[in-house]
Amino acid sequence: MRSPIPDYLAEVHDTCGELLGGAVADYIPELAAADPDTFAIALATVDGTVYAAGEADHRFTIQSMSKPFTYGIALADRGLDQVLAKVGVEPSGEAFNEISLDPDTGQPRNPMINAGAILTHSLVEGEDADARFEHLRQTFSRIAGHPLPMDEDVFTSEWATTHRNLAMGHMLKAVGVLDIDPVDAVEGYVRQCSITVNCRDLAMMAATLANGGVQPASGELIFRRRVVRQVLSVMTTCGMYDAAGDWLTTVGIPAKSGVSGGIIGALPGQVGIAVFSPRLDEHGNSVRGLRAFERLSRDMGMHLMDVTRDARTSLRGSYVTDGDHPTEVHKVQGDLRFAGVESLVRAVSAQPPRASRVAFDLTRVSEIDDVSTRVLLEVIRRLHLDDKVEVLIIDPDHVLGEHGVEVPYARRLHHVRELTAS
Ligand code: DON
Repeated sequence: MRSPIPDYLAEVHDTCGELLGGAVADYIPELAAADPDTFAIALATVDGTVYAAGEADHRFTIQSMSKPFTYGIALADRGLDQVLAKVGVEPSGEAFNEISLDPDTGQPRNPMINAGAILTHSLVEGEDADARFEHLRQTFSRIAGHPLPMDEDVFTSEWATTHRNLAMGHMLKAVGVLDIDPVDAVEGYVRQCSITVNCRDLAMMAATLANGGVQPASGELIFRRRVVRQVLSVMTTCGMYDAAGDWLTTVGIPAKSGVSGGIIGALPGQVGIAVFSPRLDEHGNSVRGLRAFERLSRDMGMHLMDVTRDARTSLRGSYVTDGDHPTEVHKVQGDLRFAGVESLVRAVSAQPPRASRVAFDLTRVSEIDDVSTRVLLEVIRRLHLDDKVEVLIIDPDHVLGEHGVEVPYARRLHHVRELTAS
């Protein structure tokens, strides 16, 4: 059987390819040379499979799509507090190149607008400008899965015309938030924007964010979960600049656009998406890119707020076994997060145990988050100490206490069959 997914992407590509509106960015002279008809879509799953349609190998400069990754590196290098002391997280509702600071804090409002991105670049670890950029470029390369070169022509072209960004760099220095030389900071930022990628690279980079910071193909942990949460949050509120509200309500995928014509989106736990086509709308977002994301979100139920999982289904059912050692077995299913574990605990605590042994069958559970682990351990403790029952955990995949957490007060079994044997 041929997978229908590439055919679906090809159909979205064909339909959105009919859009001819918008204009190629020309404020960086070299960008104006882009072929306006180039169009690619790529989708990378969190297990590293990439689907693509159109010119997915065509290379272009990453531009502002670099900003979330640089923010991630700064957070990893300096820690959240130090970064937050320099750059805010509030949406500005302004264009990307607005020369502005938050009047209350004197800081750039967020790391997705240029003022914040220049400052974020300065927070990347490195003893000088070259070391900073090389650390950044190599990290980007690990996220994409192979070395990413810089486009010297685009860099030279933007560097010669980047007066607005230089004004921002000097402004940041003048108000005392920028620690390094302002010209170095802006030059590094422009170099960062000139790193080249194709749509497959970008989809994989977005999928690394969607995958909790683990690069899907190499399995390397690039960013810790707390960093990823911060990056995705800021992408959600600030990633699409003055179109952020419209984007969140219609598409609902944490995203970032770039003036070269790309848009990346990272849907947590599911996929990374990248679309490239150079004609931009009045907000600086790719016209075909926007439409393609709208289609993917709508057709594939990818809106962040479309939470379909029903918390009540965590407890699949309960029964009491026959035999010498009657056991009340609670069959649990799905990923356990707060809502799921709450419904499970409510059902289990609604009445006293029906047997002197209580078992939780976790065979059909794939993941238990930290809060659910803590709640479940407490339930086990109380069943053991208050209700005086023996507690058994049937956990063949070791999903409870996955990260070395001890499970006191309970005996582990590997299969439900062992209930009758023990
Ligand atoms: O700062 C600039 O002007 C560019 N190098 C990057 C801007 C960009 O991609 C804004 N995105 N929509």
